[in-house]
Amino acid sequence: MDFLLSSEELREQKVDALLVPVSRLKTGQTWDHVLLSTPVREFLHASEFEGKFQEVFLAPSGISSAPRLLVVGMVDAEPFDVRQFRLLGATIAKACRKHRIASLAISMTDLCPLGQSAKDVVGALVEGLLLGQYRFNQFKGTKSKEEVAKQIDVKSVTFIAANEAGIELKTAIEYAKSVALAACFARDLVNTPAGHMTPAKMAQAAHELADTSSRIRTRVYSEEEMRFMGMEAALSVGQGSTQRPVAIHLRYEPAQPTKRIALVGKAVTFDSGGLSIKPADGMMTMKMDMAGAAAVLGVFKALSEVGAPVAVDGIFIAVENMPSGNAYRPGDVVKAKNGMTIEVLNTDAEGRVTLADALSYAAELKPDVIIDLATLTGAAIIALGDDVAAVLSNQKSLTEALMKASQATQEELWELPLHKPYNELIKSKVADIKNVGGRPGGTITAALFLQPFVNGIPWAHLDIAGPAFVEKEAQPHLSYGGTGFGVRLLMRYLQGLS
Ligand code: BES
Ligand code: ZN
Ligand code: ZN
Repeated sequence: MDFLLSSEELREQKVDALLVPVSRLKTGQTWDHVLLSTPVREFLHASEFEGKFQEVFLAPSGISSAPRLLVVGMVDAEPFDVRQFRLLGATIAKACRKHRIASLAISMTDLCPLGQSAKDVVGALVEGLLLGQYRFNQFKGTKSKEEVAKQIDVKSVTFIAANEAGIELKTAIEYAKSVALAACFARDLVNTPAGHMTPAKMAQAAHELADTSSRIRTRVYSEEEMRFMGMEAALSVGQGSTQRPVAIHLRYEPAQPTKRIALVGKAVTFDSGGLSIKPADGMMTMKMDMAGAAAVLGVFKALSEVGAPVAVDGIFIAVENMPSGNAYRPGDVVKAKNGMTIEVLNTDAEGRVTLADALSYAAELKPDVIIDLATLTGAAIIALGDDVAAVLSNQKSLTEALMKASQATQEELWELPLHKPYNELIKSKVADIKNVGGRPGGTITAALFLQPFVNGIPWAHLDIAGPAFVEKEAQPHLSYGGTGFGVRLLMRYLQGLS
């Protein structure tokens, strides 16, 4: 999708359709847009169109160079919230696909009639358009691919604004485009079936990113190297699978970094539960158990294009959790890279066992901050549902910075406490720590399990089990499958550091 800027009037544009946003608040249902001719307005009134938020209506424009009007309802409540434009963008992308609109023009003064920040509005709109247009067709057969090829998607969107606004808008558009496409890249990784998205494939994805940017370097550690480094915990999780584990370290280095941030992702390419095997229903979406690492890769893709003022380390250990004659067993004790011993009482609580080594590795780099993303517990879904990720942190200001980025990006976070007394629940009789703490407070005990491995460094853990994957489509910018959750949030967080 191309984004263009123009200072010529809406009616001068040569496009398939012109966007006409209408708001009930402002007009009291009189639909007073200049492009709405009297007959069209009368027709709108006689129709069922109410101008509700995201409601769409297609009308003739009477202009031969731009024959159609795409009338959409804007939020009719105050105060004005930039976030509505992300949803609106996605709705527009879907409407364009349905009505075969390949080029669209939008006036910025129509969208921000009261002088709201045009760059924020355009950024949210561009993100929404790209996220809403996303689909995953790689695994469709030839017939369905032909059907898809016949569909028309928006190819170009022209924003109309005064010349002076141009540079600011252009920067906002480019940032939004990079970050949204990076989230789509993370979605692709998650949506690719586990039989294809193996640990080796994840390493390949990291290498390919490094190839595209001189600021990014990638190091991949083989199973033997991991053993040499003392990553017995993560290796034990992968030992039941024929897929060989790999540890991956990406590094983004800007010219004068002010800080160093480590991003750690859970990368279980398929979680069968292992010998503590999951029921069939619980396994159906477990190709998504590498969504944390996919988000880290997405962030690096965005960094390769728009950069950040800080250095970023991306770390993940990719393994497949399978049952077999060689699988790790309940009752096994394994040693993590930092020397701590872990009693494995449930092989399905494997994410924290792999993260023990990944976080130990990250902590040894002595970054200023560690943030991990993991589809870690079903309990996070019970606590916060499908839309909201849990954040647990040992530093209040870090939580606050992430909450702020969350608010701006619509990637919802809510804080749960690292409640110290629950450490009792993960005490082991035979090792330093055990990998299960019972059902109550399952997200909290999982985070408490991770805490010793960050070695006191400021750290936030994001349990993204809910929002990483959509099964029931409820919002226009999120379609079935991986969501890319975390990419936009973390990019926003990194941009805000200096
Ligand atoms: N990958 C799962 C968590 C999960 C569940 C993510 C549903 C997304 C959707 C994780 O490895 C797991 O199985 N956790 C167990 C932990 C339990 C055995 C302590 C869980 O949540 O049931
Ligand atoms: Zn599991
Ligand atoms: Zn898992």
